[in-house]
Amino acid sequence: MINIAIDGPAGAGKSSIAKAAAKKTGFIYVDTGALYRAAALYYIENKLDKNGLIEKLPEISVELKYENGEQQVFLNGRNVSGDIRTPEVSMGASEVSAIPEVRDFLFGLQKKIARENDIIMDGRDIGTVVLPDADLKIYLTASAEERANRRFKEMTDKSVSYEQVLEGIKKRDFNDMNRKTSPLKKADDAVLLDTTEMTIDEVIDTLTGMIEKVKAK
Ligand code: DC
Repeated sequence: MINIAIDGPAGAGKSSIAKAAAKKTGFIYVDTGALYRAAALYYIENKLDKNGLIEKLPEISVELKYENGEQQVFLNGRNVSGDIRTPEVSMGASEVSAIPEVRDFLFGLQKKIARENDIIMDGRDIGTVVLPDADLKIYLTASAEERANRRFKEMTDKSVSYEQVLEGIKKRDFNDMNRKTSPLKKADDAVLLDTTEMTIDEVIDTLTGMIEKVKAK
């Protein structure tokens, strides 16, 4: 199986780019952030604290299924693919992803999917921890201002200002890069792709080209 790892900070465009490249190359796109988001949703809905969540882990089931090539996330049998996309869950995911027990809990699921499929997997620790032997590793980034800019443009609900979006991105960068367990960092053997000055199509073409080379090997 061919495994492509994509890591990078929040808002770098990992998911839209990986999704498009997966479609072009016939790989399955695995969004691992959704797993942390599902754990965060459980944590928020059940009003748990950190220890409460650790205790409840045996009662949580998180599954990924694919419908028409689109990833769907299930939390204890319920499709939560929409419910996990709120700013509250984003912040919650950043919190719960710092808990080592939560990371261990989701690790096996990620490994299993990678073992059984040709995948493009995106996250924060894919090249460093989950798939250290990936066939290709990309570290996708852009300046915080540009990432906030892109996020803000995408938002239909403009009750949040650009400054608030930027602040949220910086806060998550800090959390993700400074946690003790599996912090976000570029793997030594990852290719750095800074997309600040690139259009999304340029990034997709670049990535697709790299994947096609790996496939041809
Ligand atoms: O990519 P995202 O915004 O959906 O990720 C949500 C949170 O989950 C983010 O704050 C970082 C965390 N995460 C992680 O720690 N490791 C991963 N492999 C994926 C996401």
